[in-house]
Amino acid sequence: MLSPLRVAVTGAAGQIGYALLFRIASGQMFGPDQPVILHLIEVPVDKAMHALEGVVMELEDCAFPLLAGTVCTSDATEGFKEVNWACLVGSKPRGPGMERADLLKDNGKIFVGQGRAIDEHAAADCRVAVVGNPANTNAMIGAAQGERIPAERWTAMVRLDQNRAVGQLAKRAGVSVADVTDTYIFGNHSPTMFPAFGLAKIGNRPATEVLDGSYLQGEFLETVGKRGAAIIAARGASSAASAANALVDHVRGLVTPGKVQSVAVKSDGHYGFDPAVWAGLPVRTTETGYEVVEGLTLDAFAKEKIAATNAELVSERETVADLLP
Ligand code: NAI
Repeated sequence: MLSPLRVAVTGAAGQIGYALLFRIASGQMFGPDQPVILHLIEVPVDKAMHALEGVVMELEDCAFPLLAGTVCTSDATEGFKEVNWACLVGSKPRGPGMERADLLKDNGKIFVGQGRAIDEHAAADCRVAVVGNPANTNAMIGAAQGERIPAERWTAMVRLDQNRAVGQLAKRAGVSVADVTDTYIFGNHSPTMFPAFGLAKIGNRPATEVLDGSYLQGEFLETVGKRGAAIIAARGASSAASAANALVDHVRGLVTPGKVQSVAVKSDGHYGFDPAVWAGLPVRTTETGYEVVEGLTLDAFAKEKIAATNAELVSERETVADLLP
């Protein structure tokens, strides 16, 4: 029997948390032989902590053989103590009339505190996956707070955008999602992100040969870019099950050597991104970590889109400059 992994989830009583925890505890994130201890972290507000108690009751009622324990807390030191993975889902939603700059700064402060706590208390091998928006910039802020956990271990989630892009290409082409490959998201998890359809393949043929260019440059980009808003309009709440599913894919992919998927990581200048921003890139998992897949050919249209999403990431970094050491 493997010893349990400690997995922290912030925002554990939120809607993504509710769709996520049961999948982690059932073994879908770390595999069918890997026990887990869930560290469930919420804000120190009675309503949230009570809701969390209810979630823990339901976890108990599932009698998951792989769930070796739960820790419920609003204290970051206790919450991140010795964790091997930190899934940072909790963040402050954008309120009515709130400027994006205020959202960036308010959430940035959360990630300053959590970044420090992770650096001080997490296990030496800790890896971090940021979901809470603005995810890329939050990951950059969190990674900047410490020295013990290398910045490369901080990732942000763009896998939902990848899955959305794959779903749309498969639907349009009338094929199974399994026939759609090489679909990667470049840039920010925001409407500026670029699903690089020029690299995608459908049934081993370039997507650009299977589907017409006006669809790919128009309706496809618009549908994927505005999918989050469309779900809010239809459901009256933001995407939760698909976001949780994407996080399961993101982490599972990062613990599966050879897997290639879109992950927002410190760019180091790849594909023209500013070296200090966290950008969605094609990433291959290795035995010891991951590497950015280099050498993919991008056309002028893709380069222009990447420049635009890079400009947004750089401007987000400038907005939160006072939160960076
Ligand atoms: P939610 O509002 O249902 O839940 C968020 C939870 O986080 C709440 O229970 C809240 O109390 C908690 N929270 C807030 N600040 C916290 C802190 N400092 N520490 C611990 N917990 C904290 O929101 P939902 O739907 O679960 O979404 C969570 C985040 O994920 C949002 O920022 C959302 O924009 C983002 N998101 C990101 C996606 C991506 O692809 N990267 C996709 C979908 C959502």
